[in-house]
Amino acid sequence: MNIRSPLLRDAKNEASGVDLQDAVIAVIGSKGGVGGTTLAINLAASLGQRSSGTAVTLVDANLQQPDAALMLACEPQHSVVELFKRSAALENQIIEACRCELSSTSGFRLVSPPLDGSAASENNLSELVKVIPSIGNVSNGIVIDLPKNLDRYLVTMLDLASVIVLVLEPNLLSIAAAKRWLAAFEDLDYPAEKILLVANRLGGKFKFVEEQLFVSFSGYEILRLPNAYSLSESCAIAGAPIVVKHPKDNYSKAMRIVAASVYDRLKQTT
Ligand SMILES: Nc1ncnc2c1ncn2[C@@H]1O[C@H](COP(=O)(O)OP(=O)(O)OP(=O)(O)O)[C@@H](O)[C@H]1O
Ligand SMILES: [Mg+2]
Repeated sequence: MNIRSPLLRDAKNEASGVDLQDAVIAVIGSKGGVGGTTLAINLAASLGQRSSGTAVTLVDANLQQPDAALMLACEPQHSVVELFKRSAALENQIIEACRCELSSTSGFRLVSPPLDGSAASENNLSELVKVIPSIGNVSNGIVIDLPKNLDRYLVTMLDLASVIVLVLEPNLLSIAAAKRWLAAFEDLDYPAEKILLVANRLGGKFKFVEEQLFVSFSGYEILRLPNAYSLSESCAIAGAPIVVKHPKDNYSKAMRIVAASVYDRLKQTT
């Protein structure tokens, strides 16, 4: 038995005491539906639980399908579009008004596009790129839930990130998609230390596919999140992160290991 294995201990204490300041952590799914938004929410909550003072900000960059607000039962009074309109001279007061407080946790706040998806036709990610540094000024770290279309704006967002969390599932299409993302990241000259792979929904019946996943990405760290179907659904209905509502569940323990790894990488890059 490997007594040092991170799976044998809870990473809770290791992740404490680090100030994230204006660090940007990008979360991107290798394909649709792999659990990117669920991970971004729970990562922001885990990072928020470990930091004191100013809250972490979760930015939902999915202008057409802004799911995070729905999963957090949050109806933003002021959306990110307010920030786009005032990007030339953004005051902290305006940014604070757009960082929605959440009923389930005070550890992070949400900046969301309008829930009707209108930002997709009226705005684009270049506007979000401009306001990220200002959001960083009032936050203790930013987690961005990114869309999956590779264009120059997405690249600018990825460039801003100190850590990219690439989420994949143990199935052939998701593994193939993750390989394509990694090829793109290599073309962009991102070092392997900037990228953290997270295999979500582990523990299914196709063990050989899981085994294949773990031998498919040499040179990259791969962390594990277990299947947590009913918990993730019930927490989405309740509008609360899993790590807040069920801190002792295996998904939450594994998520704290992800958060600890993100902290470690941020420490190395600052
Ligand atoms: N570890 C998990 N175990 C089981 N179900 C999960 C897990 N993580 C997420 N889910 C569920 O999978 C579904 C998709 O999750 P989510 O919306 O986070 O994915 P996504 O990658 O953000 O999707 P999209 O491509 O639409 O943005 C949701 O119903 C969510 O509750
Ligand atoms: Mg999503």
